[in-house]
Amino acid sequence: HGTSKINEAGRLEIGGCDTAELAETFGTPLYVYDEELIRRRCREFVEAFRATGMKFEVAYASKAFCVMAMCRIAEEEGMSLDVVSDGELYTALRAGFPPQRIHFHGNNKTLEEIEMALDAKIGCVVVDNFNELHLLNESAKEKGTVMKVLFRVTPGVEAHTHEFISTGQTDTKFGFDIGNGSAFQAIREAMELPHVSILGVHSHIGSQIFEVDGFAMAAERVAEFAQTVRQELGVTFPVINLGGGFGIRYIEGDSPLPLAQYVQAITDSIKTLFNRYDYPLPEIWIEPGRSIVGDAGTTLYTIGSSKTIPGVRKYVSVDGGMTDNPRPALYEAKYEAMLANRANDPNDETVSIAGKCCETGDMLIWDLELPTTKPGDTLAVSCTGAYNYSMSSNYNRLRRPAVVFVKDGEADLVVRRETYEDVAGKDTLPERLRKQA
Ligand code: LLP
Repeated sequence: HGTSKINEAGRLEIGGCDTAELAETFGTPLYVYDEELIRRRCREFVEAFRATGMKFEVAYASKAFCVMAMCRIAEEEGMSLDVVSDGELYTALRAGFPPQRIHFHGNNKTLEEIEMALDAKIGCVVVDNFNELHLLNESAKEKGTVMKVLFRVTPGVEAHTHEFISTGQTDTKFGFDIGNGSAFQAIREAMELPHVSILGVHSHIGSQIFEVDGFAMAAERVAEFAQTVRQELGVTFPVINLGGGFGIRYIEGDSPLPLAQYVQAITDSIKTLFNRYDYPLPEIWIEPGRSIVGDAGTTLYTIGSSKTIPGVRKYVSVDGGMTDNPRPALYEAKYEAMLANRANDPNDETVSIAGKCCETGDMLIWDLELPTTKPGDTLAVSCTGAYNYSMSSNYNRLRRPAVVFVKDGEADLVVRRETYEDVAGKDTLPERLRKQA
């Protein structure tokens, strides 16, 4: 997929770059992003919306992968940006991302974060709870400003990977419940607060969703709610945000829809519902993360030692693991991989790919078909672009890998590999523990 292919030397090539050479040049583990593919995914969303003629914003959910270069690409592709912390906001601002196009999420924004958002004059805050609503109003008052707000509501739709279930009362830490009236109460309270201005409501039903039904159902609940608020409080929402969660293909058997199809389903539902209520058509916003960057990322590892347990299994170890990709250990996430430096060799072994961390659970892939490997080979694990670098850690005091963007035969470093100083340099020794000279 993307710009990946097997080149004449029989090696995996991405963005015109030979991955075995990338491994050599930048070291491993290495996150490689296919820039063309990221841009293509952005465009799929934007163009699908354009075709509907509706007003929209596609906000890239930066939690999936937040580095300055990615913020720049999102900006160039006309996206807005969803941030959920001061660190993500800082990264975006530092990359020069236009503040008016930044949306701030989260269920426990600190006063510091709220003030940072106000000072930066970001586009809107997605308010999650009553405490935050009042904190934001007070802070904005002190700064003599007004912040636009969306209200995160729980529509009572819970989306799972393959099915969704509808619950009357959603048990979640996020947002205002529509069912028990707390969402309605939030709007009522906000109407009395002069330093927040009501933009609309936001709902996010889950992640890695392969069907449109959950989105249609959420749209229905949100539309009903909007209509109630309009009738009883006289407030009309100019914006409806239906969140992210569009699934991607990690392994054979995953069957996501083309991105345009999700957009189509969402815009169709909203149009139909709001027209039914004779409600002025709102802008539609969405927040895709995984579907923008997930399949554009590939992680390169160098294969090291192996262990064969006769009649049981062969373990092949790589020089990274749960530190650069915690998703298999956290979510039992499945990945596909190939031998990047001998991509045409026939598979003749079934092996399990182990990470190098000191725990049994540090396994990346179970039962993978590969050509017989030897130490020094390059393994490429695909679809590691979302929630891998962003959830990486220094467990076992490993250094986080570098990140490169590849495009048209050029590879650009966008995050350098961590140094030992990055790992231990933040430590300090209290006087009493220092060695006496
Ligand atoms: N908007 C909100 C409010 C969200 O909470 C999320 C993801 C998104 C948008 C983007 O969802 P996406 O399009 O990426 O599915 N660490 C997990 C995923 C956690 C998703 C959290 N929220 C993983 O590695 O699968």
